[in-house]
Amino acid sequence: MKIVMAASEAVPFASSGGLAGVMGSLPSSLAEAGHEVSLFLPHYRDIEMDEKRIVRKQKLKTDEMEFRITETRFPKGAVRVFLIGKDEYFDRSGFYGPSDDEGWEDNAERFSFFSRAVCHAMGILLPYTDIIHCHDWQTGLIPAYMRKDLRTAVVFTIHNLQYQGNFPAEDYEVTNLSTELLTPEGIEFYSDFSFMKAGILYSDKITTVSPTYSWEILTDRFGCGMDGILRNRTDVLSGILNGIDTDSWNPADDPAIASSYSAGSITSREECRKELLYLFELTETDSSMIAGMVTRLTRQKGVDLLIPIVEKLVSENIKLAILGTGEREYRSKLEKLAQTYPGSVSCIFKYDDKIARKVFAGSDLYLMPSRFEPCGLAQMSAMRYGAVPLVRKTGGLADTVRDYENGGCGFVFEQESSDELFSTILRTNILFRNKYRWTHLAKKCMKQDNSWQHRSREYERVYKEVLQDKIERTDI
Ligand code: GLC
Repeated sequence: MKIVMAASEAVPFASSGGLAGVMGSLPSSLAEAGHEVSLFLPHYRDIEMDEKRIVRKQKLKTDEMEFRITETRFPKGAVRVFLIGKDEYFDRSGFYGPSDDEGWEDNAERFSFFSRAVCHAMGILLPYTDIIHCHDWQTGLIPAYMRKDLRTAVVFTIHNLQYQGNFPAEDYEVTNLSTELLTPEGIEFYSDFSFMKAGILYSDKITTVSPTYSWEILTDRFGCGMDGILRNRTDVLSGILNGIDTDSWNPADDPAIASSYSAGSITSREECRKELLYLFELTETDSSMIAGMVTRLTRQKGVDLLIPIVEKLVSENIKLAILGTGEREYRSKLEKLAQTYPGSVSCIFKYDDKIARKVFAGSDLYLMPSRFEPCGLAQMSAMRYGAVPLVRKTGGLADTVRDYENGGCGFVFEQESSDELFSTILRTNILFRNKYRWTHLAKKCMKQDNSWQHRSREYERVYKEVLQDKIERTDI
């Protein structure tokens, strides 16, 4: 099949979170299975390009728009990457806003432009595309622009329903869409208009990034106001688990960590543990458990469940190493705790791939107490590096981590409560003292298969199904 993907981020070009991880690995996995895969991204200022890897540079123009196309490839494999260049929208630092706490005022214009540019460029450069697969709100208008297309089937994946791209109705004209769609049955959403709603309404198939999340979002509790709209589309909604790129996430061959190791022998993991203690300025000790976290500092990630129990964790001789950016409130609370408990609690406030790898490789326990989690990639990377995951039973965490008591290799708690989080950490700490069992558990984590291999086959199945439907409906 000829598959086009559109997204606002992908490793290694532009990355601020889990979406980029998926977009940096799913396309290659489909290409390896024999499909022709292309990916469209905005050409942000910070994308570093090796001139030698540029395949083409071209200007495209219609009556109402003009933009640059730079074609390149993924570092490995056959996936073609098309960067949409428009300086007034993308030549600035910050993909979505000047900081984590605020978005750019012209985001509706920026991402509707990107979406229109993708449709136009696809028509010219990639005729006879079978599937266009759009990801998250930034590409949510593509299904609306494509709604009259007879040939290409449209798949829309929700990576996180909380971020919806809702904008004041006054901005609607920047989309160039007919005002006929600006109704409650259409794109209008509580007097705004919504990119996410457009994606849900006008695509042929909707997927979410785990099976559990695909039914959670049908409820008032997880639906972020879209549950009613989604309940009308359950016939085309399903969940496919994300995978991780197991070549890139591989402790046997990762230059970012202090020592390489594999599930066969993890004794040299100790070096990574030492490096983590040093890097985070935690007091060196064998007997205390290091709990790591690589996260956006937001309510979603359950940071506020952790903060109230930090003091108790310190008195249990547990060390905390936290890496992440996010909301100011959580940053300042964590900073204060780090000052109060030097040597035991430490935070590095940035988004840094290399340090993330060191956290996965050096932590004993990996914490992910999310209130909701569409899929979650960090728990899979952590397992691959032998850090035992402790997760809340929600979304993709529920689908990828089974509790030790039930024969799994992690720890799972259910309630959104600091007390339950604390008692679960205590439960792990008891097992941690039994070095033999803990090592066995860490190795078992490392052996879990969270690669894309089987999971991208499920996308293949979805594509075939929608394409078949489209062909039957349009007879083209
Ligand atoms: C978002 C979700 C996360 C998911 C990722 C990739 O970041 O919050 O759960 O793993 O997208 O799909």
